Amino acid sequence: MNTTWIILGATSAMARAFARRLAAEGAGLLLAGRDMAELTLLAEDCRLRGARLAEPLTFDARDAGGFGALIARLETEEGELNAAVFAGSMPDQSLIDADPALIGGTVTDSFTGPAHFLQLLAPLQEARGGGTVVGVGSVAGDRGRIGNYVYGAAKAGFHTYLSGLRNRLTRAGGHVVTVKPGFVDTAMTWGLPGLFLVASPDAVAGDILRAVKKRRNTIYTPFFWRYIMLIICHIPEPIFKKMKI
Ligand SMILES: NC(=O)c1ccc[n+]([C@@H]2O[C@H](COP(=O)([O-])OP(=O)(O)OC[C@H]3O[C@@H](n4cnc5c(N)ncnc54)[C@H](OP(=O)(O)O)[C@@H]3O)[C@@H](O)[C@H]2O)c1
Repeated sequence: MNTTWIILGATSAMARAFARRLAAEGAGLLLAGRDMAELTLLAEDCRLRGARLAEPLTFDARDAGGFGALIARLETEEGELNAAVFAGSMPDQSLIDADPALIGGTVTDSFTGPAHFLQLLAPLQEARGGGTVVGVGSVAGDRGRIGNYVYGAAKAGFHTYLSGLRNRLTRAGGHVVTVKPGFVDTAMTWGLPGLFLVASPDAVAGDILRAVKKRRNTIYTPFFWRYIMLIICHIPEPIFKKMKI
């Protein structure tokens, strides 16, 4: 059976690594994002690696008017339809503190834009009796902290949305994998101070693909972040509110 993936935010370093792994398995890839020149190069690379189909498409999380065309394009592909969301943005928290107008865009990029798209896709997946959704959240969504609490709140919202979508799609034979990465070496973290245990995008992509095949519900990647976050989430609030981590 044909398998087609639409990858939202396909220019992200993690998404590129994920797309290359899917290409090697012969999947069909719709590579969606804002930078058409980069997406065209990525599509060429994926075709060379064995993708049955690799096509660049425009996706801007802040322009829901464009989502219908993507759904219509997906509809023309036979077989299983899957989606992976890598889109997201993390403006410096100090910039948001200075200009609260930045909150809307951050939440749209990391939560409501992708969720809007997935809501349009869900009936199609249900009608086909299956399909997988991968949603990339973040450990930042597990507990709000001073350094990135707006981004963290957007990711927490996305985690909750994915949990509900999993409930819904499970009933139709589908599946949703929530991915919570720790620090990953990508454009988003470039130059940020204080990072530790930084993972490579390819290692994260490998974890995601394994989670898809095993139909895992929620993964931390690398795995040890589950334990780091367990500790962080159990720090009593009177202590946590005075910490800067
Ligand atoms: N790096 C980390 O340590 C880390 C940790 C936890 C979670 N994450 C999450 O992992 C995902 C991938 O991020 P990354 O680390 O690979 O960083 P990245 O390279 O900056 O990727 C972010 C992606 O989001 C896209 N994007 C941003 N705003 C968008 C919009 N309005 N419409 C469509 N696409 C938009 C970017 O597209 P353009 O190329 O057009 O800008 C890019 O493809 C993100 O959701 C991020 O929050 C990252």
